[in-house]
Amino acid sequence: MTALSVLGNTTAGLPRQDATWWRQAVVYQIYPRSFADSNGDGIGDLPGITGKVEYLRELGVDAVWLSPFYPSALADGGYDVDDYRDVDPRIGTLAQFDEMRAALHAAGIRLIVDIVPNHTSNRHVWFQQALASEPGSPERERYVFRRGLGEHGELPPSDWTAAFGGPAWEPVGGGEWYLHLFAPEQPDLNWANPEVREEFRTTLRFWADRGVDGFRIDVAHALAKDLTEPLPSQADLKADIWGGAHPLEDRDEVHDIYREWRQVFNEYDPPRTAVAEAWVPAHRRSRYASPEGLGQAFNFDLLEATWDGPTFAKIIDNNLALARESGASSTWVLSNHDVVRHATRYALPDGTDLEAWLRHDGAEPRPDEERGRRRARAATLLTLALPGSAYLYQGEELGLPEVADLPADVLQDPTFFRSQGAQKGRDGCRVPLPWASHGPTLGFGDELAHLPVPADFDRFSVESQEADPGSTLGFYRRALAERRRLQTGETLEWLTNVPATVVAFTRPGGWTSVTNFGSEPVPLPPGRVLVASSPVDGRSVPAETTVWLQSSGQNGTEQDG
Ligand code: NOJ
Ligand code: CA
Repeated sequence: MTALSVLGNTTAGLPRQDATWWRQAVVYQIYPRSFADSNGDGIGDLPGITGKVEYLRELGVDAVWLSPFYPSALADGGYDVDDYRDVDPRIGTLAQFDEMRAALHAAGIRLIVDIVPNHTSNRHVWFQQALASEPGSPERERYVFRRGLGEHGELPPSDWTAAFGGPAWEPVGGGEWYLHLFAPEQPDLNWANPEVREEFRTTLRFWADRGVDGFRIDVAHALAKDLTEPLPSQADLKADIWGGAHPLEDRDEVHDIYREWRQVFNEYDPPRTAVAEAWVPAHRRSRYASPEGLGQAFNFDLLEATWDGPTFAKIIDNNLALARESGASSTWVLSNHDVVRHATRYALPDGTDLEAWLRHDGAEPRPDEERGRRRARAATLLTLALPGSAYLYQGEELGLPEVADLPADVLQDPTFFRSQGAQKGRDGCRVPLPWASHGPTLGFGDELAHLPVPADFDRFSVESQEADPGSTLGFYRRALAERRRLQTGETLEWLTNVPATVVAFTRPGGWTSVTNFGSEPVPLPPGRVLVASSPVDGRSVPAETTVWLQSSGQNGTEQDG
């Protein structure tokens, strides 16, 4: 009990102590190095977050998910962790972590931290020990080492390629190689080893004891692996990927690990929560979201969908059905630190190859910024009306676009380096936030920012938007306040008597959401307008707009599916 007694009541200040807070929470993702820099060294930090708790409270979010803040060489933006139980000295200290946690809780905001269990960094003490030890040693058994092919092991054990490009095996001398599904600085752990399992349970307890409310689990689908030899070729790997028996992805026994974690989560009151980052098809998602497992899983279907009413409706229906099946609640995500921001995706013609577009610094095709913002606000308001949790990514509340023209010499994403520049990578959505309308880093910090803040981000700054009642920030604040007031139950009823371009439904209490995906106005259903994603005249829902109404709730039809 040492940690607990030192820290006192770690959930003090939270309005709701119930164990179901996560089911319909609005979770705001903070990418810490790009959020707010308190000491002017160009890197966002924990005191920077603490200084913005009031902003988060006013925004109206229920929880913060903090991307990795652990010591790291930043070979992959912090997803290469040197030490899972400490804070990167450039970002803060454990004491500052506790202060941040306490400030969030005092404002009624929960805290979710990122856990990266598929791989450590190559600077982690375990990997250093593994390199210093013999093949077959217990130190090497914590990772996935294999003898290479060829007479002297000079060839990789298989032709597998890593997610960021290049081979998935790295030689360490003596004909031995280690596996890395991501960058070479991210050696994969061996989850068949009980010592690895024990270590991560200790890490989960370390943060839960410090008052962390939940965990976001990185690459949750890849921990369990079958490396029985002969290893299949890359071409064979692609076959039958989602059957539960693929050597590297979404293996059925990965859930044994999460069942063990659930026992750890349930040692706490309220139980700690978790959300899986599992890039698996919808029908495999419920396994991760099971109450005996992680409890919730990201649903990236809308993030991957184009702007189209029937497509959105189908995805929503399917995911609500899956949530009912698993006992979890659905999650809705439009943006995160890995994808082109949704204000920009919707500004580009359907079917735009985003990688090619980034490669050309966003020059061709030219985004229609106005349209992107309009659609982004409409899509956000739609997802905020849905049953389940909404995960927002820092800066989307400002309507930030992707920064596509970052020069090559400032890029940090390993995707850029590992693909020899063929893919620009994810830095364009990780640019520091503009807090003020003036100054070299627009209020992010002082003179420096680890990625340059474009001068024209002044129009998106918190300062300029606070002065503008029609701003995207004002819109998010209104929407989140209304959602908090209206949210009850986890059901919806579709309104069926609507044009084909319209997605409309009613939630318990007569809270109605209508989205017009089309390019012509449609009649506004009866009811009092609560929030609208673009100005409304009281008679119609304009093109590419979502409107929330308070209706009697009598005109819905039972949802099927
Ligand atoms: C998913 C994370 O979201 C991404 O940023 C990271 O590069 C990979 N996992 C590897 O950890
Ligand atoms: Ca700093």
